[in-house]
Amino acid sequence: MTEEQDHGQTPAPQGSRIDAYVDRYAARAAGMVASEIRALFAVASRPEVVSLAGGMPYVTALPLDLVGELVADLVTRRGPVALQYGSGQGDPHLREQICEVMRMEGIEAGADDVVVTVGSQQALDLITRIFIDPGDVVLAEGPSYVGALGTFSAYQAKVVHVTMDDQGLVPESLAQTLYALKTAGNTVKFLYTIPTFHNPGGVTLNHARRQQVLDICQRAGVLIVEDNPYGLLGFDGEPMRALRADNPDGVVYLGSFSKTLAPGFRVGWALAPHAIRDKLVLAMESAVLSHSSFTQLAVGQYLATQPWREQIKTFRELYRERRDSLLDALEVLMPPGVSWTRPAGGFFVWATLPEGLDSKAILPRAVAERVAFVPGTGFFSDGSGARQMRLSYCYPQPDRIREGVRRLAGVIDQELQLRDTFGTTPPPIPPGVDTPAPDLA
Ligand SMILES: Cc1ncc(COP(=O)(O)O)c(C=O)c1O
Repeated sequence: MTEEQDHGQTPAPQGSRIDAYVDRYAARAAGMVASEIRALFAVASRPEVVSLAGGMPYVTALPLDLVGELVADLVTRRGPVALQYGSGQGDPHLREQICEVMRMEGIEAGADDVVVTVGSQQALDLITRIFIDPGDVVLAEGPSYVGALGTFSAYQAKVVHVTMDDQGLVPESLAQTLYALKTAGNTVKFLYTIPTFHNPGGVTLNHARRQQVLDICQRAGVLIVEDNPYGLLGFDGEPMRALRADNPDGVVYLGSFSKTLAPGFRVGWALAPHAIRDKLVLAMESAVLSHSSFTQLAVGQYLATQPWREQIKTFRELYRERRDSLLDALEVLMPPGVSWTRPAGGFFVWATLPEGLDSKAILPRAVAERVAFVPGTGFFSDGSGARQMRLSYCYPQPDRIREGVRRLAGVIDQELQLRDTFGTTPPPIPPGVDTPAPDLA
């Protein structure tokens, strides 16, 4: 090409043979790295492998024929609306229905403050987009949801973890962390928390601590982002009261139909104080113009015509049985020194291995033995979690869960014998950002 033909454009980037544009990406793209264990998860999705890794809801338990009829009927009767662009804030009727769903957790809110999003994952993205400049501080439980950590990393936030125990986030740790950050001159943009049936922790913030967390954040002027996709999937009693129920001005609440209906609709939402809501709508429009009218109306139709509360009960009973299978099998089969959380809802158990074992190093051997889990390091932004792993019970049948634990216990037993014979060795896989694919999040 001559200089004239080039129209003064800069020369093509040198790059590498794998990616010619490697030196042209924005700095933030450096944080977008696929995990080196993704390939292993591709193997783990083979039918002979029991996957305790994935976080996929068991959508087979839905009345799929009825959902099919409802979708067909929607196109026939309301096609011109369902197949048209919608508003950036979301379908007004669906937003009313969302308020009814949130009432189950003690939230009193108006449809005007709800923004419908493409799953709650997009709400997380929008919130991060409107609050975070590179280097800004976000607080999150340690461990935390891998999809949120991926978003925070994409916007170059600095994530500082707050300690969590079997009663959820530890208020004293929150207060101390805030104090230390303030003393060092840092402004915390928000606290990201999953108070109920935590992913991956499997624990729930107890009642007393909820008020403490609200008070601490209010005193420090820190916004809370409450991510609550599992709140209605509790195994005992009534749903927990949401943090948002007790502080409408200090909490942005994120909800989703992914776990109570189906993730394929990609319908979630944010409930936010007015000013933040306005920014979210603008950010939403700049991201996707508007959410799919089709799936919003389909979810609205489902809520209006189907016994959705009963369906949630069905899901809860199904997941409770699977949780019991996992906990019983762990109790009977795991070698001494392994510990784990006992979730009262949701999808996940968080297990800790004995000293000297590394969950990421064990994963290839576990997959060879036809069982998979997610290693703990992906749930921290600071490389912690090497001795931990997330075990999910939402997808496999109870007998498969038991078989998976039997295989995993065998692998851990062998690792312990190796440790006792040869001592500990450094992990063979270099540390990196562990971002499993969406079906594992
Ligand atoms: C804690 C948490 N937040 C958000 C999401 C995103 O869910 P969705 O975008 O399907 O609503 C997930 C998905 O697993 C999750 O576990």
